[in-house]
Order: sequence, then structure tokens, then C-alpha cells
Amino acid sequence: MKNIYSNIYSFNSKSLKKTIKSLKQGNLVGLPTETVYGLAGNAYSGKAVKKIFKLKRRPKINPLIVHYNNFKDANKDVILNKNFYKLYKKFCPGPLTFILKKNTKSKIHSIVTANLNTVAIRFPSNRVVKTVLKFLNFPLAMPSANISSGISPVSANDVFEDFKKKLKIIINGGKSKIGIESTVIDLTGKPKILRPGIISSSEIKPFLKLSLAKKNFKIKSPGMMKKHYSPGIPIIFVGKPSKPSHAYLVFGKKFKKNPNNFNLSKKADLKEAAANLYKILRKIKKRGFKKIFVAKIPNRGSGLAINDRLLRASK
Ligand code: TXA
Ligand code: MG
Repeated sequence: MKNIYSNIYSFNSKSLKKTIKSLKQGNLVGLPTETVYGLAGNAYSGKAVKKIFKLKRRPKINPLIVHYNNFKDANKDVILNKNFYKLYKKFCPGPLTFILKKNTKSKIHSIVTANLNTVAIRFPSNRVVKTVLKFLNFPLAMPSANISSGISPVSANDVFEDFKKKLKIIINGGKSKIGIESTVIDLTGKPKILRPGIISSSEIKPFLKLSLAKKNFKIKSPGMMKKHYSPGIPIIFVGKPSKPSHAYLVFGKKFKKNPNNFNLSKKADLKEAAANLYKILRKIKKRGFKKIFVAKIPNRGSGLAINDRLLRASK
């Protein structure tokens, strides 16, 4: 991808140096991860994390995920338990976020965790963010790099669309491989998935017992229930498009090619569909459609994560 904007940089030793310097000074940087692009700042610095909430217009009650290079670094701030190590061994680095108890020596700023005594931690596998983390002596608080409640970014240009030049550095790491946010699992008590993702409950079950999220369970992720991932146009799950201004979000080979049909995966591959979801929602919005109808997407594996995002986006 060509870098058309002056604050979008290719990843090389020069832009790495610039990124490290900027983060050390308490500034924010847009970084690629394997899931979606993140808005990164020093998780130990009040000055830095205040900037994240302000720039994203994120409600103060919605805590951030803290990103580390490895479990030894995370051990300084949180209490790592048996269940954590089981999943870490199997899935990390990768698209899995753990909710754990903060330890007493933790340097994570209280704004990051919205004053909770728990912390969300993740170990990204993307080469760019992993390299940046290696050069820092602090972890990175990093929400998705979009204005709160909008669509998460899967390219450097997506990040630019939301923040323009308010962000001095955006590192271009190409299209996000996974394309939707990490699976969030609460390990502070009985393990429970708070946000579905590419790593599905069926992949986690062989390693630990999952407690099912009951319908009216107390929301553990503040801000999780509100409108989210929204393209800003109505999303409708029943019926089909009837006007040229209606887009049809479809899945599988039975759907014909036409200007209103947007196929998440022609070969009916749920992982591919997840990777295409945000890119396609942005495209539909840009083309000026007024409504989005959604054809049925199988509610299993990554399909659970896709349906979760679409449902929240429709709120
Ligand atoms: O894939 C991802 O996770 C991306 C990349 C950039 O790493 N990040 C991301 O962050 O999606 P964000 O801020 O968009 O979503 C973080 C989610 C929110 O739903 C938040 O409520 C939840 O994690 N969360 C954070 N800390 C928590 C805590 N202590 N307890 C429960 N939920 C928490
Ligand atoms: Mg987000």
C-alpha cells in the first residue's frame, strides 16, 4: 500500500526510532496489530492515557487493554494464574485478551483500568507492535484506533480517516490479518468469555471449563453493551434489500454478483468473513448506502464474533 499521507510511515529502523521516542515522551502512535489497528500510549503514564480517552472520545468508564511483549513483563503488573498459563502456552502471542487481578506493585495508571482492580492484558503477535514493545520499558495501553462506537480500523488509512493529522505517527503494517478484535476472557473467577473473537469457546474448552454467560449476567466489561462498531447507517437482520440505496451483506456462493451485494466470503469461510467485515462495512458507508440488510451468517466459530459485532453495530 502506498503511503499517501505524511503521517503514515512504512515500518523501518527510522520510523521505529521515531515511534519509540514519541511513546517515551507520552505521545500516541497508531500501530498495526494482527486483529485491528491500535491507538498506543504508555500504560504507566497518566498524561499518555488521558490523551487516548480524549482523542477517541471514549467514556471514562470503559477500560483499556494493556499490551505486553511476554508474560514476564506482564507479571510485574498482574497476578498470573494457572488458567492463564494454560491458555498463554497455547494461544500467545495472539488474539486473546485476559482479564486478571492487578497486583499491588502494578504501575498501570488507574485511568487505564477505569479504577477497577482488574486489568485486561494481551500479547500481540504482529511483528511491528512486538518489535516496538521490545524497545520499551513500559507496556502499551491500546484500544482500537477509531473514534468511540465506530468501526475498528484494519488499515493505516482507516486510522487516518478517524484522526487525520491529530496523530503524528501511524505505522503502516498493511491489512490486519484477523480483522476483528481479540477474544476477551475473564480469568478472575470461573473462566468466562466476555467478547467473542477468532479464538472461539470451542478452541478454549479443551484447556479449561468455561462458565456460560447467562442472559442477564452483570456486565463485566463496562461499555460492552452499548452501541459499538457502528457504520452509522441502520443494520437490519430480517428481510432483503428492496431499493437501490439498500446494501446486502451476504455470505456464501449462492449470492449473485451485483452492485448491492457485498459478500463477506464467497467460499463460506467464517475466518475470511471476519477478516473482511470492517473493510466491507466501511466500503458500504463510503458508497452512500442508506441501509444494510444482513443475510444469515452461521452462528458458530468466528461466526459468533461476526454476529456479535453486527448486533452491536445495529443498536
Ligand atoms: O484486538 C484487540 O483487542 C484490539 C487491539 C488494538 O489490541 N483492542 C481492542 O481494544 O479491541 P478496545 O479498547 O477497543 O476493547 C477493549 C475491551 C472493551 O470492551 C473493554 O470494556 C474491555 O476490553 N476491558 C478492558 N479492561 C477490562 C477489565 N478490566 N474488565 C473487563 N473488561 C475490560
Ligand atoms: Mg474498540
